[in-house]
Amino acid sequence: MNKFYVTTPIYYVTAKPHLGTLYTTVLADVINRWQQIQGKETFFLTGTDEHGQKIAMAADKAGKSPKEFTDSFIDAYKDTWKEFEIDYSHFIRTTDEYHVKAIQQWLQKLIDKGDIYKSSYNGWYCTPCETFLSDKETEGAPEDKSQDGPACPSCSRGTQYIEEECYFFKLSKYQDRLLDFYKSHPDFIFPQERGNEVVSFVESGLKDLCMSRTTVKWGIPFPGDEQHVAYVWADALNNYITAIGYLQEGKQAEFEKWWPANVQVMGKDIVRFHAVIWPAFLMASDLPLPEHLLVHGWIKVGDQKMSKSLGNVMDPRFLYQEYGPDAVRYFLTTQMAITQDSPFSLQDLEGRINSDLANEMGNLLNRMVTLAKRGGLDLVSVPADWSEASLKLQADAQKMVKDVQDYLDTYSLHMAYAEVKRFVAAVNAYFHAQEPWKLVKSDPTKFAEVISATAHSLYVIGVMYWPVMPDKMQALLSAIGVEFSIEKNSLASLRGAWDKSFTLEQVPVLFKKIERKKVSEEVKVVEKKEEVKESGIIDIKDFMKVNLVVGTIESAEAVEGSDKLLKLQVNCGDKGVRQIFAGVKKFYEPEALVGKQAVFVVNLKPRKIMGMESQGMMLFAEKEDGGLSFISPGAQVPNGSALR
Ligand code: MSP
Repeated sequence: MNKFYVTTPIYYVTAKPHLGTLYTTVLADVINRWQQIQGKETFFLTGTDEHGQKIAMAADKAGKSPKEFTDSFIDAYKDTWKEFEIDYSHFIRTTDEYHVKAIQQWLQKLIDKGDIYKSSYNGWYCTPCETFLSDKETEGAPEDKSQDGPACPSCSRGTQYIEEECYFFKLSKYQDRLLDFYKSHPDFIFPQERGNEVVSFVESGLKDLCMSRTTVKWGIPFPGDEQHVAYVWADALNNYITAIGYLQEGKQAEFEKWWPANVQVMGKDIVRFHAVIWPAFLMASDLPLPEHLLVHGWIKVGDQKMSKSLGNVMDPRFLYQEYGPDAVRYFLTTQMAITQDSPFSLQDLEGRINSDLANEMGNLLNRMVTLAKRGGLDLVSVPADWSEASLKLQADAQKMVKDVQDYLDTYSLHMAYAEVKRFVAAVNAYFHAQEPWKLVKSDPTKFAEVISATAHSLYVIGVMYWPVMPDKMQALLSAIGVEFSIEKNSLASLRGAWDKSFTLEQVPVLFKKIERKKVSEEVKVVEKKEEVKESGIIDIKDFMKVNLVVGTIESAEAVEGSDKLLKLQVNCGDKGVRQIFAGVKKFYEPEALVGKQAVFVVNLKPRKIMGMESQGMMLFAEKEDGGLSFISPGAQVPNGSALR
């Protein structure tokens, strides 16, 4: 099979993309490019999920129609993907007409088959996740259904009770077939631990799934009953097949060419939808199931998932401008372990850029080319004999390529690229041990051999890292005279003995070392005092606009690179745990603030500090000596208590 089909989830367009959504999309792009250099014809699908209650509510809040609202974010998605070299084949929007029509036909097919029936639903619903909670998940729900219900097990937010007529999909009918499928396809889900969770969920019993809503208007009209719109997940999951032509005239051959998907990439929050509901939909449609699901962990900030609703998201644009796309792609692919949740920090990112990319890789290329040119070697040809050390390096390169391939067969991206990194270190060690700067005068033949072995190694490194850093690896390869193309420089070109000649060009600065100074300049910009409005008398309405609450500081740490800032996590009760920056490093040791109650403004427009959001402001009183003293209530009060 020479085709490969990879997908990302389609993202809810309630805001611009963030680092979490970029992470999934980069992983899919790396997988896609990896398949390309193996000579596969690939199709890479991404897009946006635009229907449902969550979007309708967000649009309403913004004072726009849902379509106007979703339209307003599409360019931000497409521009960000372009900036980060995401080479998708198609961008689907669930508001696209072909998708809407295909979904209606698909629903009709299932109605005709008897897999969809009309009844009524009552239970608890999580709008941010667009999920119906199971019986088990609603144990201990309040008697009073007008209150917020039990916390959603996925996002921990309150749920709402809904009671309405709806169409159901016979999910329960597929329980046994699903269990048989998991058993006969133990590698359906990577990593396997995530598969175990799915099996026990299905074993505990599946209930039929509500497939339509009457209280939500923003969705695909149900065929034959326009009081109902399709449940957003029923609409969304099918994007993976409508995008490649499912149920569209003249597109059957295209559909059959690509489906089933080889791998579908997603975060762990939506694995149940993809490993239970989606396969059941496909079974009901008599379609084959995807080969694999790749389920990754979350990018975290402190203890929390990075998410739009928690307001702790990192803006990809800032990272793009500050560090460039390839360094960020490198960091996300190699430093985030797919199997786990991983924290993200600018400091770690900068550390990796400086050591792995600027020092280890950039310097190696630079030193090799500079030295070779100094020794008159603009053209590096294949030596008559390879030394033992060079043969060892060659064998190491072959082994590395094989190991990477094995890891990537099971989508263990971070493990795979750890092998390439190890090989870069091995080439550095070889280069230093050979001391070519001495050989240039004493033994020109040996000198040329060392340069050739290093150039061959850099060629291997360039091709292996191309899926991760397409732009920088093209620059690296062109510095050794290779015009990269997928056809000519595929994985196959790395096999066999080293027999290439290289023309050395001018060396580009592949990765600039990052100096912390740069970041503190950013801090200064953000710290710039807001213009103070002319003071005057205000009335009570103006005062009431400011939402002041008491919160407890749960953690505090100094912001590196800033002589003023502390970063606080503040529990503001029903206003959530907020990340708030305070410019009081000079006046307080971080530890002295932990556990203290203080006063915070919680409805200030969030602002960016070093690419992270500050979600409020801590209040201080000015002291006589110019210092600052925080303000606390006279007695312990519940977090979130309002000031009046
Ligand atoms: N619209 C649904 C998916 C429908 S697919 C048929 C949805 N959208 S979402 O906008 O909430 O995106 C969810 C996906 O974004 C996650 O599964 C994950 O791939 C990615 N991420 C969002 N936040 C993330 C992190 N903090 N960390 C890692 N990935 C994150 O759910």
